[in-house]
Amino acid sequence: PVAPGGRILIKGGKVVNEDCSEMSDVLVEDGKIAAVGADLQVAGEARVIEAAGKLVLPGGIDTHTHMELAFMGTTAVDDFHVGTKAALAGGTTMILDFVIPQKGTSLLEAYETWRNTADPKVCCDYSLHVAVTWWGDKVKKEMQTLVQEKGVNSFKMFMAYKDIFMLQDHELYAAFSQCKDIGAIAQVHAENGDLIAEGVKKMLSLGITGPEGHELCRPEDVEAEATQRAITIAHAVNCPLYVVHVMSKSAAKVVAGARRSGRVVFGEPIAAGLGTDGTHYWHKDWAHAAGFVMGPPLRPDPSTPGYLMDLLANDDLSVTGTDNCTFSVCQKALGKEDFTKIPNGVNGVEDRMSVIWEKGVHSAKMDENRFVAITSSNAAKIFNLYPQKGRIAKGSDADLVIWDPQATRTISAKTHHQAVDYNIFEGMVCHGVPVVTISRGNVVYEHGNLLVEPGHGRFIPRKPFCEFVYKRVHQRDQVAKPCAVKRMPYSVIKYTKEPQ
Ligand code: URP
Ligand code: ZN
Ligand code: ZN
Ligand code: ZN
Repeated sequence: PVAPGGRILIKGGKVVNEDCSEMSDVLVEDGKIAAVGADLQVAGEARVIEAAGKLVLPGGIDTHTHMELAFMGTTAVDDFHVGTKAALAGGTTMILDFVIPQKGTSLLEAYETWRNTADPKVCCDYSLHVAVTWWGDKVKKEMQTLVQEKGVNSFKMFMAYKDIFMLQDHELYAAFSQCKDIGAIAQVHAENGDLIAEGVKKMLSLGITGPEGHELCRPEDVEAEATQRAITIAHAVNCPLYVVHVMSKSAAKVVAGARRSGRVVFGEPIAAGLGTDGTHYWHKDWAHAAGFVMGPPLRPDPSTPGYLMDLLANDDLSVTGTDNCTFSVCQKALGKEDFTKIPNGVNGVEDRMSVIWEKGVHSAKMDENRFVAITSSNAAKIFNLYPQKGRIAKGSDADLVIWDPQATRTISAKTHHQAVDYNIFEGMVCHGVPVVTISRGNVVYEHGNLLVEPGHGRFIPRKPFCEFVYKRVHQRDQVAKPCAVKRMPYSVIKYTKEPQ
């Protein structure tokens, strides 16, 4: 459906960027945005897409996915092919996935394995965060290589998953220090792994083996404490920090408080936490309850989603991901007798944009520009992709969504494009529907049809020392350097009293 030369003219839509909206046409050529302006005239052939009454948005960037992750004894069912296709159907044109090396193994080898897995399958552009699951000189060296040669500028450290991925405080200190030295952003999974281990023992001893035990063993405090600790450690080394999957009001308040006292910290709530809550863990149907199990858990306080959305609206929280890590019902059943064995993870990559439009914009907590900021531009800024991604402007990548703010769709596993056999948003009616998705200058989704082949997407390398994140950090290094007080040398005579 793409005209020769791949030119597309989007006519008559309202172009929405994070800072303004304008009635403009958009010309796409060779995978890039060639022009943005009123009444663009194009010489030669171009496919014209009418967008009157619609919004034209920068494609969504999902900051947090785990396609086909091998985890907790099984493998996530959405692979890079199906998962990125579903992303496009939902208006997301880029994902950031995680390389998670096993403890003691090479980060570089894990990265190469993940590239080899993803490159031939991805239907949209992608980039990679790398997890630091153990500490040593080799890890430190490989982080540097990843930043300097492999296009990685973000590393995730786990404070949970004791004995598997968890780092101790002194290791966090070392890892954050290295991030700072090489110009990367430190990311944390903030939950106190020791307290979770104790909480698990307690719940099992009380005979609580169902999904409700998953939340009860790790209440909000456990997340908030680790969030504060990570912020304290990052501040001690003046390293920028990014808190992944902020799931509770308590943790969100910690991030907000830190930002208000000037810390360079960013909080990422996810679609699940914005669109649903943890009351489902108490559902009588085991499979229904288990479907919501992820770490940190969704919170039973039903005011949580609205609260997190308010904080996104006012910039206390910055970006949205999904933590898309999907396990079908039979995989969840690995934990049918013990909640600790339920593979952790939920869906979101397809529905994030619509859920946030519904709960954020349609509910009047934010406007269309803030929607673009939290679904696309801020991610591009923090991870050093801006304005290649996250903005509709001449020269930017042609990753676009034509969005119908009036149309509605009902989310269901029966109609979604993901591989997983249920949907945590089942039955939710969302205003805000992607009508056309354009990735790399090609129409890849149109009126319900996906028109894309595996391998269409590309790995997008990212450079270190992103100014958006590091300018304040470097300013502090220069200006707020501690320095010693100049004194005369200590003299014994001066302080010895003369004999009377
Ligand atoms: O439950 C989750 N979040 N699964 C994926 C792994 C992680 O911690 O992000
Ligand atoms: Zn995590
Ligand atoms: Zn339910
Ligand atoms: Zn995750």
